[in-house]
Amino acid sequence: MDFRIIDRLRADRSAERAEVVAGLRASPAIVAPKYFYDSLGCALYGAICQLPEYYPTRTEVALFDQKRLEIATEVGAGRQLVDLGAGDCCKARGWLPFLEPSRYIAVDIAAAEIAGALQRLAPDFPTIEMVGVVADFNQGLDLGDALTDAPVTFFYPGSSIGNFSPAEAVRLLASIRSHCVARPGSSLLIGVDGKKDPGTLVAAYDDALGVTAAFNRNVLRHLSTRFGFDFVIEGFSHFACYDEGLGRIEMHLESLREQAVMLDGVPRRFAKGERIHTENSYKYAPTEFEALLAEAGFRDLRRWDAPDFPYHVFCAA
Ligand code: AVJ
Repeated sequence: MDFRIIDRLRADRSAERAEVVAGLRASPAIVAPKYFYDSLGCALYGAICQLPEYYPTRTEVALFDQKRLEIATEVGAGRQLVDLGAGDCCKARGWLPFLEPSRYIAVDIAAAEIAGALQRLAPDFPTIEMVGVVADFNQGLDLGDALTDAPVTFFYPGSSIGNFSPAEAVRLLASIRSHCVARPGSSLLIGVDGKKDPGTLVAAYDDALGVTAAFNRNVLRHLSTRFGFDFVIEGFSHFACYDEGLGRIEMHLESLREQAVMLDGVPRRFAKGERIHTENSYKYAPTEFEALLAEAGFRDLRRWDAPDFPYHVFCAA
Protein backbone atom coordinates (compact mmCIF):
# COMPACT_ATOMS: atom_id res chain seq x y z
CA MET A 1 0.00 0.00 0.00
CA ASP A 2 1.66 3.15 -1.24
CA PHE A 3 -0.38 5.78 0.53
CA ARG A 4 -1.34 6.75 4.05
CA ILE A 5 -4.63 7.88 5.51
CA ILE A 6 -4.97 10.56 8.20
CA ASP A 7 -8.32 10.62 9.98
CA ARG A 8 -9.28 14.15 11.13
CA LEU A 9 -12.99 13.42 11.54
CA ARG A 10 -14.38 14.33 14.90
CA ALA A 11 -14.31 11.10 16.84
CA ASP A 12 -17.09 12.32 19.10
CA ARG A 13 -20.03 10.30 17.82
CA SER A 14 -22.46 11.49 20.50
CA ALA A 15 -21.91 15.17 19.65
CA GLU A 16 -22.37 14.35 15.98
CA ARG A 17 -25.58 12.51 16.75
CA ALA A 18 -26.91 15.37 18.89
CA GLU A 19 -26.25 17.77 16.01
CA VAL A 20 -28.14 15.57 13.53
CA VAL A 21 -31.08 15.08 15.92
CA ALA A 22 -31.26 18.84 16.58
CA GLY A 23 -31.33 19.49 12.82
CA LEU A 24 -34.16 16.99 12.34
CA ARG A 25 -36.15 18.44 15.26
CA ALA A 26 -35.81 21.98 13.95
CA SER A 27 -38.55 23.54 11.91
CA PRO A 28 -37.94 23.38 9.03
CA ALA A 29 -35.92 20.20 9.53
CA ILE A 30 -32.42 20.17 8.05
CA VAL A 31 -29.78 17.54 7.30
CA ALA A 32 -26.24 18.51 6.26
CA PRO A 33 -25.40 17.46 2.67
CA LYS A 34 -22.29 15.63 3.89
CA TYR A 35 -24.66 12.81 4.91
CA PHE A 36 -25.33 12.03 1.23
CA TYR A 37 -21.93 10.42 0.90
CA ASP A 38 -22.00 6.94 2.36
CA SER A 39 -20.76 4.32 -0.09
CA LEU A 40 -24.12 3.97 -1.86
CA GLY A 41 -24.43 7.77 -1.95
CA CYS A 42 -20.97 8.08 -3.55
CA ALA A 43 -22.02 5.53 -6.19
CA LEU A 44 -25.27 7.42 -6.83
CA TYR A 45 -23.36 10.69 -7.17
CA GLY A 46 -21.13 8.95 -9.73
CA ALA A 47 -24.30 7.97 -11.62
CA ILE A 48 -25.64 11.55 -11.41
CA CYS A 49 -22.46 12.76 -13.12
CA GLN A 50 -23.33 10.55 -16.10
CA LEU A 51 -26.89 11.84 -16.47
CA PRO A 52 -27.68 13.88 -19.57
CA GLU A 53 -29.40 16.51 -17.39
CA TYR A 54 -26.49 16.93 -14.96
CA TYR A 55 -24.22 19.24 -16.98
CA PRO A 56 -21.71 20.53 -14.32
CA THR A 57 -19.26 17.61 -14.26
CA ARG A 58 -19.24 17.15 -18.02
CA THR A 59 -18.89 20.88 -18.64
CA GLU A 60 -16.00 21.21 -16.20
CA VAL A 61 -14.19 18.13 -17.53
CA ALA A 62 -14.44 19.52 -21.09
CA LEU A 63 -13.12 22.91 -19.96
CA PHE A 64 -10.23 21.29 -18.09
CA ASP A 65 -9.37 19.12 -21.12
CA GLN A 66 -9.45 22.13 -23.39
CA LYS A 67 -7.42 24.48 -21.16
CA ARG A 68 -5.19 21.94 -19.41
CA LEU A 69 -1.82 23.43 -20.42
CA GLU A 70 -2.86 27.03 -19.94
CA ILE A 71 -4.25 26.35 -16.46
CA ALA A 72 -1.27 24.19 -15.49
CA THR A 73 1.09 26.99 -16.52
CA GLU A 74 -0.90 29.44 -14.41
CA VAL A 75 -0.86 27.35 -11.20
CA GLY A 76 2.63 25.93 -11.77
CA ALA A 77 4.05 22.43 -11.45
CA GLY A 78 5.81 20.69 -8.57
CA ARG A 79 3.54 21.96 -5.80
CA GLN A 80 1.74 19.87 -3.26
CA LEU A 81 -1.75 19.20 -4.60
CA VAL A 82 -4.65 19.30 -2.14
CA ASP A 83 -7.83 17.86 -3.64
CA LEU A 84 -10.86 19.08 -1.68
CA GLY A 85 -13.74 16.59 -1.85
CA ALA A 86 -11.57 14.20 -3.84
CA GLY A 87 -14.16 11.41 -3.98
CA ASP A 88 -13.04 8.85 -6.57
CA CYS A 89 -10.01 11.07 -7.45
CA CYS A 90 -10.99 10.91 -11.15
CA LYS A 91 -10.72 14.65 -11.70
CA ALA A 92 -7.28 14.87 -10.11
CA ARG A 93 -6.02 11.92 -12.17
CA GLY A 94 -6.10 14.06 -15.32
CA TRP A 95 -4.05 16.79 -13.64
CA LEU A 96 -1.28 14.70 -12.09
CA PRO A 97 0.82 14.33 -15.29
CA PHE A 98 0.59 18.10 -15.85
CA LEU A 99 0.96 19.45 -12.32
CA GLU A 100 3.54 16.83 -11.30
CA PRO A 101 2.91 17.38 -7.60
CA SER A 102 5.49 16.29 -5.05
CA ARG A 103 2.61 15.14 -2.87
CA TYR A 104 -1.06 14.50 -3.60
CA ILE A 105 -3.40 15.03 -0.64
CA ALA A 106 -6.94 13.78 -1.19
CA VAL A 107 -9.38 15.25 1.34
CA ASP A 108 -12.89 13.83 1.70
CA ILE A 109 -15.53 12.96 4.26
CA ALA A 110 -15.98 9.49 2.70
CA ALA A 111 -13.18 7.39 4.18
CA ALA A 112 -13.78 4.19 2.21
CA GLU A 113 -14.13 6.13 -1.03
CA ILE A 114 -10.71 7.87 -0.84
CA ALA A 115 -8.94 4.75 0.43
CA GLY A 116 -10.24 2.80 -2.57
CA ALA A 117 -9.44 5.63 -4.94
CA LEU A 118 -5.85 6.03 -3.70
CA GLN A 119 -5.35 2.29 -3.94
CA ARG A 120 -6.18 2.50 -7.65
CA LEU A 121 -4.30 5.76 -8.24
CA ALA A 122 -1.02 5.22 -6.38
CA PRO A 123 0.41 2.42 -8.58
CA ASP A 124 0.07 4.64 -11.68
CA PHE A 125 2.08 7.48 -10.11
CA PRO A 126 4.88 5.86 -8.13
CA THR A 127 6.89 9.09 -7.79
CA ILE A 128 4.05 11.02 -6.14
CA GLU A 129 3.58 10.70 -2.41
CA MET A 130 -0.11 10.02 -1.75
CA VAL A 131 -1.99 10.98 1.40
CA GLY A 132 -5.70 10.65 2.14
CA VAL A 133 -7.21 12.96 4.75
CA VAL A 134 -10.64 12.03 6.10
CA ALA A 135 -12.09 15.35 7.18
CA ASP A 136 -15.14 17.57 7.22
CA PHE A 137 -13.81 20.92 6.07
CA ASN A 138 -17.01 22.71 7.02
CA GLN A 139 -15.27 24.44 9.92
CA GLY A 140 -12.09 25.60 8.24
CA LEU A 141 -9.39 23.41 6.86
CA ASP A 142 -7.39 21.38 9.32
CA LEU A 143 -5.01 19.14 7.39
CA GLY A 144 -2.90 18.10 10.36
CA ASP A 145 0.63 17.22 9.29
CA ALA A 146 -0.41 16.32 5.74
CA LEU A 147 1.08 19.58 4.41
CA THR A 148 4.74 20.57 4.41
CA ASP A 149 6.00 24.17 4.08
CA ALA A 150 6.25 23.82 0.28
CA PRO A 151 3.80 25.68 -2.01
CA VAL A 152 0.36 24.17 -2.48
CA THR A 153 -2.24 24.06 -5.22
CA PHE A 154 -5.68 23.75 -3.68
CA PHE A 155 -7.99 22.01 -6.14
CA TYR A 156 -11.70 22.43 -5.46
CA PRO A 157 -13.58 21.29 -8.57
CA GLY A 158 -17.17 20.35 -9.31
CA SER A 159 -18.83 23.46 -7.88
CA SER A 160 -18.96 21.85 -4.46
CA ILE A 161 -18.34 25.31 -2.98
CA GLY A 162 -22.01 25.86 -3.94
CA ASN A 163 -23.11 23.73 -0.97
CA PHE A 164 -22.02 26.57 1.34
CA SER A 165 -23.88 29.84 1.80
CA PRO A 166 -21.92 32.80 0.41
CA ALA A 167 -20.85 33.79 3.97
CA GLU A 168 -19.69 30.24 4.77
CA ALA A 169 -17.93 30.07 1.39
CA VAL A 170 -15.96 33.23 2.21
CA ARG A 171 -14.87 31.67 5.52
CA LEU A 172 -13.66 28.50 3.82
CA LEU A 173 -11.94 30.46 1.03
CA ALA A 174 -10.24 32.67 3.63
CA SER A 175 -9.02 29.56 5.43
CA ILE A 176 -7.62 28.21 2.14
CA ARG A 177 -6.01 31.58 1.51
CA SER A 178 -4.28 31.58 4.89
CA HIS A 179 -2.62 28.27 3.91
CA CYS A 180 -1.59 29.92 0.61
CA VAL A 181 -0.17 33.04 2.28
CA ALA A 182 2.01 30.89 4.54
CA ARG A 183 3.50 29.24 1.42
CA PRO A 184 4.39 31.71 -1.37
CA GLY A 185 3.68 30.31 -4.85
CA SER A 186 0.46 28.66 -3.68
CA SER A 187 -2.93 29.10 -5.31
CA LEU A 188 -6.51 27.87 -5.51
CA LEU A 189 -8.00 26.25 -8.62
CA ILE A 190 -11.76 26.15 -8.23
CA GLY A 191 -14.77 25.27 -10.43
CA VAL A 192 -18.03 27.17 -9.94
CA ASP A 193 -21.40 26.58 -11.57
CA GLY A 194 -22.88 29.64 -13.24
CA LYS A 195 -26.35 31.11 -13.32
CA LYS A 196 -28.59 29.81 -16.09
CA ASP A 197 -32.27 29.35 -16.87
CA PRO A 198 -34.25 27.74 -14.03
CA GLY A 199 -35.57 24.94 -16.28
CA THR A 200 -32.06 23.69 -17.04
CA LEU A 201 -31.08 24.01 -13.38
CA VAL A 202 -34.09 22.17 -11.98
CA ALA A 203 -33.76 19.36 -14.57
CA ALA A 204 -30.15 18.83 -13.42
CA TYR A 205 -31.41 18.25 -9.86
CA ASP A 206 -34.61 16.38 -10.74
CA ASP A 207 -33.67 14.03 -13.56
CA ALA A 208 -36.04 11.83 -15.53
CA LEU A 209 -34.51 8.56 -14.32
CA GLY A 210 -34.87 9.50 -10.68
CA VAL A 211 -31.19 9.06 -9.82
CA THR A 212 -31.04 12.38 -7.97
CA ALA A 213 -34.24 11.40 -6.14
CA ALA A 214 -32.53 8.17 -5.03
CA PHE A 215 -29.41 10.13 -4.04
CA ASN A 216 -31.54 12.49 -1.93
CA ARG A 217 -33.72 9.79 -0.34
CA ASN A 218 -30.65 7.67 0.39
CA VAL A 219 -29.75 10.19 3.11
CA LEU A 220 -32.62 8.76 5.18
CA ARG A 221 -31.31 5.23 4.76
CA HIS A 222 -27.80 6.42 5.68
CA LEU A 223 -29.02 8.25 8.80
CA SER A 224 -31.11 5.26 9.87
CA THR A 225 -28.17 2.83 9.62
CA ARG A 226 -25.68 5.29 11.10
CA PHE A 227 -27.77 6.44 14.07
CA GLY A 228 -30.47 3.77 14.40
CA PHE A 229 -33.40 5.95 13.32
CA ASP A 230 -36.48 4.36 11.75
CA PHE A 231 -37.11 6.47 8.66
CA VAL A 232 -39.44 4.82 6.17
CA ILE A 233 -37.97 5.82 2.82
CA GLU A 234 -41.27 5.26 0.99
CA GLY A 235 -42.76 8.01 3.18
CA PHE A 236 -40.65 10.78 1.60
CA SER A 237 -40.31 12.06 -1.93
CA HIS A 238 -37.64 14.11 -3.66
CA PHE A 239 -38.28 17.80 -4.22
CA ALA A 240 -35.95 20.25 -6.01
CA CYS A 241 -36.52 23.92 -6.80
CA TYR A 242 -34.55 26.98 -7.83
CA ASP A 243 -34.77 30.14 -5.72
CA GLU A 244 -33.91 32.86 -8.19
CA GLY A 245 -33.53 35.54 -5.50
CA LEU A 246 -31.00 33.54 -3.51
CA GLY A 247 -29.45 32.06 -6.65
CA ARG A 248 -29.59 28.53 -5.35
CA ILE A 249 -31.02 25.13 -6.08
CA GLU A 250 -32.64 23.61 -3.03
CA MET A 251 -33.24 19.93 -2.43
CA HIS A 252 -35.78 18.73 0.10
CA LEU A 253 -37.44 15.50 1.17
CA GLU A 254 -41.18 15.90 1.40
CA SER A 255 -43.27 13.82 3.76
CA LEU A 256 -45.97 12.05 1.77
CA ARG A 257 -48.21 11.52 4.78
CA GLU A 258 -48.43 12.31 8.44
CA GLN A 259 -45.81 10.17 10.12
CA ALA A 260 -43.48 9.97 13.11
CA VAL A 261 -39.82 9.02 13.24
CA MET A 262 -38.22 7.93 16.52
CA LEU A 263 -35.13 10.01 17.27
CA ASP A 264 -33.44 8.86 20.46
CA GLY A 265 -36.69 7.65 21.98
CA VAL A 266 -38.69 10.79 21.25
CA PRO A 267 -40.92 10.88 18.16
CA ARG A 268 -40.45 13.63 15.57
CA ARG A 269 -43.78 14.08 13.82
CA PHE A 270 -43.87 15.14 10.19
CA ALA A 271 -47.06 16.57 8.73
CA LYS A 272 -48.09 15.64 5.22
CA GLY A 273 -46.18 17.99 2.89
CA GLU A 274 -43.61 18.95 5.54
CA ARG A 275 -40.07 19.05 4.20
CA ILE A 276 -36.57 18.19 5.33
CA HIS A 277 -34.05 20.55 3.71
CA THR A 278 -31.07 18.47 2.56
CA GLU A 279 -29.01 20.66 0.23
CA ASN A 280 -28.39 24.09 -1.25
CA SER A 281 -26.37 24.45 -4.41
CA TYR A 282 -25.53 28.10 -5.08
CA LYS A 283 -24.99 29.30 -8.63
CA TYR A 284 -22.77 32.33 -9.23
CA ALA A 285 -22.40 34.88 -11.97
CA PRO A 286 -18.63 35.26 -12.57
CA THR A 287 -18.46 38.69 -10.95
CA GLU A 288 -20.39 37.48 -7.89
CA PHE A 289 -17.85 34.75 -7.26
CA GLU A 290 -14.95 37.10 -7.93
CA ALA A 291 -16.35 39.30 -5.17
CA LEU A 292 -16.33 36.33 -2.75
CA LEU A 293 -12.73 35.53 -3.65
CA ALA A 294 -11.77 39.17 -3.11
CA GLU A 295 -13.59 39.23 0.23
CA ALA A 296 -11.60 36.16 1.26
CA GLY A 297 -8.40 38.10 0.50
CA PHE A 298 -7.45 36.71 -2.90
CA ARG A 299 -5.98 39.43 -5.12
CA ASP A 300 -4.64 37.72 -8.18
CA LEU A 301 -7.54 36.19 -10.16
CA ARG A 302 -7.78 34.44 -13.49
CA ARG A 303 -10.92 32.97 -15.00
CA TRP A 304 -11.84 30.50 -17.71
CA ASP A 305 -15.45 30.20 -18.91
CA ALA A 306 -16.96 27.09 -20.46
CA PRO A 307 -18.23 27.73 -24.01
CA ASP A 308 -21.53 25.83 -23.89
CA PHE A 309 -23.00 26.31 -20.39
CA PRO A 310 -22.24 29.07 -17.89
CA TYR A 311 -19.57 27.35 -15.79
CA HIS A 312 -16.46 29.05 -14.49
CA VAL A 313 -13.01 28.00 -13.39
CA PHE A 314 -10.91 30.42 -11.33
CA CYS A 315 -7.28 30.44 -10.38
CA ALA A 316 -6.82 32.63 -7.31
CA ALA A 317 -3.69 33.63 -5.40
C1 AVJ B 1 -21.22 17.59 -5.36
C2 AVJ B 1 -22.15 19.50 -4.31
C3 AVJ B 1 -21.29 19.65 -6.53
O1 AVJ B 1 -24.49 20.50 -5.78
O2 AVJ B 1 -24.37 19.83 -7.83
C4 AVJ B 1 -25.70 16.66 -7.32
C5 AVJ B 1 -24.18 17.51 -5.40
N1 AVJ B 1 -26.67 17.25 -5.50
N2 AVJ B 1 -27.01 16.49 -7.47
C6 AVJ B 1 -24.13 19.68 -6.63
C7 AVJ B 1 -25.48 17.15 -6.06
C8 AVJ B 1 -27.59 16.83 -6.37
C9 AVJ B 1 -23.35 18.43 -6.22
N3 AVJ B 1 -22.03 18.78 -5.58
